[in-house]
Amino acid sequence: MDSIVVKGNGPLKGQIPIAGAKNACLTLMPATLLSEEPLTLTNAPRLSDIKTMSALLESLGAEVSSLQDGKVLALSSHNIDNHVADYEIVRKMRASNLVLGPMLARLGHAIVSLPGGCAIGARPMDLHIAALEAMGAEIELKEGYLHAIARGGLKGAVHELRFASVGATENTVMAATLAKGTTVLKNAAREPEIVDLVHCLRKMGAQIEGEGTSTITIQGVDRLNGATHPVVTDRIELGSYMLAPAIAGGEVELLGGRINLLAAFCEKLDAAGVSVTETEKGLMVARKGDLIHSVDVVTEVYPGFPTDLQAQMMALMCTADGTSVLEEKIFENRFMHAPELIRMGANIDVQGGVATVKGVKRLKGARVMATDLRASVSLILAGLAAEGETVVSRVYHVDRGYEHVVAKFAGIGAQIERVKE
Ligand code: EPU
Repeated sequence: MDSIVVKGNGPLKGQIPIAGAKNACLTLMPATLLSEEPLTLTNAPRLSDIKTMSALLESLGAEVSSLQDGKVLALSSHNIDNHVADYEIVRKMRASNLVLGPMLARLGHAIVSLPGGCAIGARPMDLHIAALEAMGAEIELKEGYLHAIARGGLKGAVHELRFASVGATENTVMAATLAKGTTVLKNAAREPEIVDLVHCLRKMGAQIEGEGTSTITIQGVDRLNGATHPVVTDRIELGSYMLAPAIAGGEVELLGGRINLLAAFCEKLDAAGVSVTETEKGLMVARKGDLIHSVDVVTEVYPGFPTDLQAQMMALMCTADGTSVLEEKIFENRFMHAPELIRMGANIDVQGGVATVKGVKRLKGARVMATDLRASVSLILAGLAAEGETVVSRVYHVDRGYEHVVAKFAGIGAQIERVKE
């Protein structure tokens, strides 16, 4: 198993290119199942999660070619000859559940393994199921698999999600594109990745309105065609790297970044004493002065502060001037990075979904363990600000969501390397 070794060595300077969004690509890829014609995704990120989704789609009979060093994905679902999403693949990655809606819409039936819990929470699928049932699907759980059938095809429905779930919104919107009649999805999630999915589906001939608002209306069509679509910028990769100069000092330009992808996060950075300015090519980030001020954070659905940046923000707060309170409202168990940061000298008290972080002068390098994707990057960021060497183990987590992570940090002057243990 590989580890990443980071040495805190002062201010960072340079540019980092931001990749296409993992979470957009993971919902755009299953959209191929909706059409017999090819779907080409450009600006795809090079990540292990993308390989897992490719393997899942291939197991269903789709063809997936990775071109231009993985930046272009050519997908074709001309022949879907299997309708079972197997546990062995689904358990590796929850986003596998995004094949359910498209398969049900295209084939009228699907068997998809329930993914099981994951490090950050239980993450059930009840919201996906309720929405598809509202559209006439019958769904039964048998031996860990959801057996879904839409006798006579899916039918448009008016449905309100109990919670604005990203995945349930994506599954429902994809399913509704081929349903008979109109679907109105209320309390829909508004994340930029959903807007990107709708833009792609529209290119494929889908009739959808209201993306980016909490009511999405989908008029079902008989068939969808092929399309070529560039994956939107990864706002979470962007925010993660924005924290590097905030934590270690210096000035870093994030190529392709835009404030409107991360407005709530940028507001918090501003309050913490970090300046973010738009440039021709992206975003320039630097500390305004020597001190980082403590800020309180509550994670919320978009456009609120993203849960996927909570761990990284906590790393910044570890050396802030004062006490900050971070409240996690999306996942019930997303503070596993806190005990690892404490090993580096951070002062953090976790009570349920609330973490209180008292800033310390300096973190100290230590051996720490990545517990999930975003936690892994928060530990690397903490290592940039620490005295001495930090060794982050289990970095396979980081490979799920950050392409060329060592090269990107090294490119702004960080002392970082990947080692085999
Ligand atoms: N939930 C339910 N029932 C459901 C679906 C969700 O109770 O049927 C709960 C979940 O347990 C969780 C909350 O609702 O507590 C939010 O879940 P949501 O469905 O919105 O999240 P997701 O679609 O499973 C996506 C991202 C996550 C990101 C969340 C929230 C992808 C592939 N994953 O997950 O990304 O944290 O939205 O923004 O898009 C990551 O990239 O590190 C990551 C975890």
